[in-house]
Amino acid sequence: MTRLGILLSGRGSNFLAIADNIAAGSLTNCEIAVVISNKADAPGLDAARNRGLTAVAIEANGRKRAEHDAEIIATLRAHQVDYVILAGYMRLLSPGFIQAFPQRILNIHPSLLPAFPGLDAQQQAFDYGVHVAGCTVHFVDEQLDHGVIITQRTVPVLDTDDEPTLARRILTEEHIAYSEAIAKVISGKYEISGRRYIRKK
Ligand code: GAR
Repeated sequence: MTRLGILLSGRGSNFLAIADNIAAGSLTNCEIAVVISNKADAPGLDAARNRGLTAVAIEANGRKRAEHDAEIIATLRAHQVDYVILAGYMRLLSPGFIQAFPQRILNIHPSLLPAFPGLDAQQQAFDYGVHVAGCTVHFVDEQLDHGVIITQRTVPVLDTDDEPTLARRILTEEHIAYSEAIAKVISGKYEISGRRYIRKK
């Protein structure tokens, strides 16, 4: 059974979609070992506790990034985590963190990367005037929102949209994309060639 460690900073709807898919049996061969947040008041932590999952707050408290990350890594290791799932974790990872879990950290980003990396991706897409938006699940490397792409899902941008309606439409796809990407990766049936994720039979 593959053990997932979830990192989140906020409401945790992506985490909950993953937890729901595991509970429903549509995402198989994995379990959530621990949920960690850098924010003690993250609603996602409460949601995890309500589901009987181990939920831990590890706040930065002015510590250096590497020091804070070392405590998170130790907690992930203590729970024997195989894959780290960033689900709205709004903090950059130190190089040491990325090296501790090579090709084993996934992130979801609410744009079709490489367009609109960074904060407020949905607003960036809306303001730019794209006609198609979406989300990306990718491996995390040392550059922001940059690693090898595992899955993308698209949505139309409608004339009647404002940023919140577009963001909601993207979020619905995020909730599908993340479980799809996790299933793909934990199956082990892939290889990476340059920047390309190639599915193996
Ligand atoms: C999601 O839209 C996720 O894609 C985004 O934060 C939101 C978290 O929502 N992540 C990023 O922007 C990372 N660069 P959630 O807490 O409900 O899952």
